[in-house]
Amino acid sequence: MLHHLIYASQPADGLEITDIQAIASSARRRNAALGVTGFLVFRHDLFMQVIEGGQAEVSEVFCRIARDVRHRDLLLLSFGEIEVRSFGESPMGMLAISPRHRSIIVQHSSHDELRPSDLSASRALALLAALAATARDEAPPDADAPAPNRTASWRSEIARPPTTRFRRPTG
Ligand SMILES: Cc1cc2nc3c(=O)[nH]c(=O)nc-3n(C[C@H](O)[C@H](O)[C@H](O)COP(=O)(O)O)c2cc1C
Repeated sequence: MLHHLIYASQPADGLEITDIQAIASSARRRNAALGVTGFLVFRHDLFMQVIEGGQAEVSEVFCRIARDVRHRDLLLLSFGEIEVRSFGESPMGMLAISPRHRSIIVQHSSHDELRPSDLSASRALALLAALAATARDEAPPDADAPAPNRTASWRSEIARPPTTRFRRPTG
C-alpha cells in the first residue's frame, strides 16, 4: 500500500545552495532505488518535503532524513496511506520558494507568513500540491534539478541579513 509523509524543517545555519544540490543528488539516487518519489520546497528558513512510496521505503527514507545534520527542528505534518501518488514520478522534484509564491502561501496558510506548525496535514498537502503545480509550469520539461533560475532566490535570501519578518521568536 502506498504511503505519503510530509515534514517541515529548518535548514542548518550556513547551508549553501551547493549543499542543497548535494542533498538533491543523493536523494534522487536513493529514492529512485527505493521507488520513492518526492517534492521538496526550500527557502533560507524552511524545508518542506513530501515523499511517496511503499510504507517501509517511505519510513526508511524519513529515518535517514531525520538524522541529517543539514537541517533541524523536524516537524512531522502527515503520514498515512494514499491511493495514488500526487506528485508525479520524479524521485525528487524541487522548488525554491520566492516572493512570487506569496499568493499561494497566503491562500493555504492561516497567516501571511508560512508557519509549518500552523498547517494541518490537509493544508500542508494542498500547499505543496499548489507549489508543485507552479514548479511544473515554471520548469523546463527536462529539469527537476535546482536550475540556476530557481535557486537564485535561495542565494539572495540566504545572503540577506535577518529581518524582523524572519526573526524567530526568542524565549
Ligand atoms: C531537506 C533534506 C531532504 C532530504 N531528502 C532526502 C530524500 O528524499 N531521500 C534521501 O534518500 N535522502 C534525503 N536527504 C538526505 C539524507 O538526509 C541523507 O543525507 C542521504 O540519504 C544520505 O545519502 P548518501 O549516503 O548518498 O550520502 C535529505 C536531506 C535533507 C536535509
